[in-house]
Amino acid sequence: MKVLFLLVLLLFSCGDIFLEEDLIQRPQAKRCSECHGEIFKEWEKSRHAMAWKSEKFKLESENYTKTKCLSCHAPHQVDPEIKPALRVEFKEDGVSCVACHFKEETKAMHGPHKVWSPPHPSRQDLNYAKSFFCAGCHQETYKEWHLTKVQRSCQDCHMPSLGDKRLVQKFPFEYFHSKKQRHDHSFPPGKARPEDLLVELERGEKLSLKITNVGVPHNLPTADQGDPKLYITVEAILPTGEKSKIVRVLSYQAKNALVYKVPTYIDLPWQEISHLEVSVQRKLSWKEEREEIVRHILR
Ligand code: HEC
Ligand code: HEC
Ligand code: HEC
Ligand code: HEC
Ligand code: HEC
Repeated sequence: MKVLFLLVLLLFSCGDIFLEEDLIQRPQAKRCSECHGEIFKEWEKSRHAMAWKSEKFKLESENYTKTKCLSCHAPHQVDPEIKPALRVEFKEDGVSCVACHFKEETKAMHGPHKVWSPPHPSRQDLNYAKSFFCAGCHQETYKEWHLTKVQRSCQDCHMPSLGDKRLVQKFPFEYFHSKKQRHDHSFPPGKARPEDLLVELERGEKLSLKITNVGVPHNLPTADQGDPKLYITVEAILPTGEKSKIVRVLSYQAKNALVYKVPTYIDLPWQEISHLEVSVQRKLSWKEEREEIVRHILR
C-alpha cells in the first residue's frame, strides 16, 4: 500500500511523465481529438473548421492567391487587437484549435478554466469568455456589438454553455479531472426569433413599413467578408382584390442592414390597401436556402 502511494506520488511530482511534446508544436486539430473528443466533434461541424476548405472562399480568394484574404481563414495565433498572421502548417484546418488556444509566448494552451493538464501546459485566461476575443477577425460585427452596449457576449449566444462536463474523454485523465463548464464549439450562428423584429405599418403621406431589430445586438445581417442577406417580402392585397408585391434585400455589402434598435423604413408603392402580408427571411452566407424568421398580416 505504502509503495503504491509513493509510486503515485512520484508519478505526480514529476509531472513531465505525461507530457506529450508534440502538443506544443502546433499539431493538427485531429491530434487534440485524441483527448478532447467531444469538443473536436463540435468544432468539426463548425464554420470555423470550413473557413479554408469552403468552396466559396476558394473561389473568392481566387484559389488562395489573394494573399490579403488568407490569414483570418487559416490564422497562426488569435490576438484580439490585430488581424492574425497566416499559418504555415495545416491550413485546411481553418480556424483551428491551436490558432485559438496555443500561445507562442507561454508555449501553453490558454483557456477559461484553471486546470492541471499533464499532457500539455495550460494557462487560465479570463479573456476567453469576452467578446473582445472574437474582435481580431469579426472586426465589423464586434464594432456593431460594442455600440449596442448590450452585456451579453458573442460567446453567450454563439458558444452557449453545455453545462458541466468533462473536457477530456481519454483514460486515465477522464478520472482525474472534475467536470467543468463546457461551451458549444460548433459555433452555432443561431436564428433571430420572431420577437427580435418589430414590423409596423406607418400611415403618413405615404404608406411605409417600419422594421426594427430589437433583439440581435449587432446588424442583421452582419458580416465582415461574407454576404448573408435578409429578404423582406411585402405582398399587398389591394381594395380591388388584386395582389401586388415588392421585395427588399438587405445586406452588409449594400450597407442597408438593420442596425440594432434603429428603425428602417421601406416606402410602399400603394395608396390604399386592404391588408399586407410581410415575410422576413434570412440567408446565411454559406447556405443556398432561405429560412423564414417571421410572417405578419398588417392592416
Ligand atoms: C481567426 C479568425 C476568427 C476568430 C478569432 C473567430 N472567428 Fe468566427 N469565423 C471566422 C471565419 C473566417 C468564419 C467564416 C468561415 C466560413 O463560413 O467559411 C467565421 C464564422 C463564424 C460563425 C458562423 C457564421 C455563419 O455565417 O454561420 C460564427 C457564429 C462565429 N464565427 C462566431 C465566432 C465567435 C463567437 C468567436 C469568438 C469566440 C469567433 N467567431 C472567433 C473567423 C474567426
Ligand atoms: C479580418 C479577417 C478576415 C479577412 C482579412 C478576410 N475574411 Fe473572410 N471572413 C471573415 C469572417 C470573420 C467571416 C465570417 C463572418 C462573415 O460572414 O463575414 C468571413 C467569411 C467569409 C466568407 C463567407 C463564408 C463562406 O465560406 O462562404 C467568404 C466567402 C469570405 N470570408 C471570403 C473572404 C475573401 C475573398 C477575403 C479577401 C478579400 C476575406 N474573406 C478576408 C474574416 C476575414
Ligand atoms: C493526451 C491528452 C490531451 C491531448 C492530446 C490534448 N489535451 Fe488539452 N487537456 C488535457 C487535459 C487532461 C486537460 C485538463 C482537463 C481538465 O482539467 O478538466 C486539458 C486542458 C486543455 C485546455 C484548458 C481548458 C481551460 O479551460 O483552460 C485547453 C485549451 C486544451 N486542453 C487545448 C488542447 C489543444 C488545442 C490540444 C491539441 C493541440 C489538446 N488540448 C490536446 C489533455 C489533452
Ligand atoms: C474560434 C476560436 C476557438 C476555436 C477554433 C476552438 N476554441 Fe476552444 N474555446 C474558445 C473559447 C472562446 C472558449 C471559452 C468559451 C467561454 O468561456 O465562454 C473555449 C473553451 C475551450 C475549452 C474549455 C471548455 C469549454 O468548453 O469551455 C477547451 C478544453 C477547448 N476550448 C478546447 C478546444 C479544442 C480541443 C478545439 C479544437 C477541436 C477548440 N477548443 C477550438 C475558442 C476556440
Ligand atoms: C444576444 C445574442 C447574440 C449576441 C450577443 C451576438 N449574436 Fe451574433 N447572432 C445572433 C443571432 C440570433 C444571429 C442570427 C441572425 C439571423 O437570423 O440570421 C446571429 C448571427 C451572427 C452571424 C452570422 C451572420 C448573420 O447575420 O446571420 C455572425 C458572424 C455573428 N452573429 C457573430 C457575432 C459576434 C462576433 C458577436 C460578438 C461581437 C455576436 N455575434 C453577438 C445572436 C447574437
